[in-house]
Amino acid sequence: MELKIVENREIAKNTFSLKIENPALFDIKPGQFFMVRINGFNYPLLRRPFSVANFTGNYIEIIYRVVGEGTKILTDKKVGEFIDLLGPLGNGFDEIAENKKIMLVGGGIGAAPLIYLSSVLKNRHKTPYEAFFGFNSKDEIYVDFGSIATMDGSSGFDGNVVDMIEDRLNEDTFIFACGPTIMMKRLAYVCYDKGCGMKVSLESRMACGIGVCLGCVVESQNGFKKVCEDGPVFDFREIVWQAM
Ligand code: FES
Repeated sequence: MELKIVENREIAKNTFSLKIENPALFDIKPGQFFMVRINGFNYPLLRRPFSVANFTGNYIEIIYRVVGEGTKILTDKKVGEFIDLLGPLGNGFDEIAENKKIMLVGGGIGAAPLIYLSSVLKNRHKTPYEAFFGFNSKDEIYVDFGSIATMDGSSGFDGNVVDMIEDRLNEDTFIFACGPTIMMKRLAYVCYDKGCGMKVSLESRMACGIGVCLGCVVESQNGFKKVCEDGPVFDFREIVWQAM
């Protein structure tokens, strides 16, 4: 599916917002993603997975961090150019925990799908929630709501986001989380300890995005699962965190 770019700009250090016209062909659940073909040539060969940070009547927004050759090429895309997307893919955050204290917890580029989840919770479900986001430093922050933690202490809580929220968690808490594996693993152990519920959206290297290459498998209590097809959202108790 070729769609037109309506915006592509840097919104924080090495972090870009790519807005693409909404073709009005589908709905998108928070946590679902697209495989984006970086260019029409054979290099970089593969598509890259990007979760949806916003979805309105006018556009689909993807927020991406420049981490290699593929994402660097993406920064050169201009408004009016077309981009090839495959999706929406994956299961998404489809179960909203009623009667629980909902927390959104994101780290780095993993905050992006939680931005879209927050607008769905607010506008569609009318459900209250709190949001907590961790970044390395102030110049990497691209969210404009929630409580912030930075690893270098340059903004908000001085330290990681799990330390910031740990004392607030209990059996009445239900977390929706996305972030780097090291953060998610720590959060999973804290959630076991505190007895809270949690759905995690796993970040994984994906080559195909459609269940063919097996490049994204993770170990679960029920055998190996494909992050692209069975996830990316899982109940945290399903994942074998020791293997992560
Ligand atoms: Fe190929 Fe998941 S990315 S099977």
